[in-house]
Amino acid sequence: MRIKTPPATAADIHATIASLADPTRTRLLLLLGRYELSVNELCAAVQLPQSTVSRHLKHLSDDGWLITRSEGPSRYYRLAPRLEPVAKQLWQVVRDGLGAQPETAQDEARATQVLSERRTRSQEFFSSTAGQWDALRADLFGARAGFAGLLALLDDDIVIGDLGCGTGIVSNELAPYAGRVIAVDESREMLSAARRRLHERENVELRCGALEALPLDDGELDAAVMSLVLHYVPEPVAALSEARRVLKPGGRLIVVDMMAHGRAEYREAMGHVWQGFTQEQVHAWLAECGFGRVRWRGLAAEPGAKGPVLFAASGTAM
Ligand SMILES: C[S@@+](CC[C@H](N)C(=O)[O-])C[C@H]1O[C@@H](n2cnc3c(N)ncnc32)[C@H](O)[C@@H]1O
Repeated sequence: MRIKTPPATAADIHATIASLADPTRTRLLLLLGRYELSVNELCAAVQLPQSTVSRHLKHLSDDGWLITRSEGPSRYYRLAPRLEPVAKQLWQVVRDGLGAQPETAQDEARATQVLSERRTRSQEFFSSTAGQWDALRADLFGARAGFAGLLALLDDDIVIGDLGCGTGIVSNELAPYAGRVIAVDESREMLSAARRRLHERENVELRCGALEALPLDDGELDAAVMSLVLHYVPEPVAALSEARRVLKPGGRLIVVDMMAHGRAEYREAMGHVWQGFTQEQVHAWLAECGFGRVRWRGLAAEPGAKGPVLFAASGTAM
């Protein structure tokens, strides 16, 4: 029988009653209304042979009571979330009547045990592979798998400024998780490259302007990022004060840049103004510009990176 759309015929009603008129089938349905289980797990829970359980599962599936899901070699069953009205009504009567029977409680206790064994299997996997998990994770998903997803911790209506956005790498990472990203740079060439990278990001706006006179209103941002920019700014206090102005009170600024280093050739080669920064310098500037709760973190160097070690300093607009 295939359960049909209402109105149900007399034949439908009798077929639905017949479908439920078997104690093994109702035991299986009571379990599958609560848990998703494989044939073997059901056999253990109801203590019946596989041939019996499989036969009743086929009957119930054919009658539209169950949905199934395959995972590897296993097939999992559960009660169909949407039943035809007549089936739903009859099922409620049966479930309410049988749900309180001692045998049902026994089946449930065994099903719970079966499910806890599933958990034990995953625990065994991790206790035997603890030493190799890092390599396995990298092998399966990549060395930085899932880290970008951590940005989903951001409120999805947050407005973030990418100050000194360059070609838009940072904006591109932030955009999927933010309400809006306002990317600012003084170089029209860099902004053109950013436009090419970000043209499909509808929540990113590019603005041309200087960090020392940001094209942003007071309190327009919830958060701001200055990534690999501050070492180009002759007067960091001027840029950090502007960042404070355009943040809402309580908004947060993150500065990512190089720790103090000795590579003087970067001035000539890349126009750097500062050879990185010390923690004391950055802390003092942020405090001077109206930021509190200042934090500093050294960042782990990426394997193979040739440049100086980076830091991330943050402060809250007071
Ligand atoms: C090295 S790029 C970094 C870009 C990007 N933030 C990143 O992490 O890839 C530095 C950018 O800062 C911009 N910049 C430097 N000084 C600036 C200033 N005073 N005002 C606005 N933009 C500035 C440059 O035009 C350049 O695009």
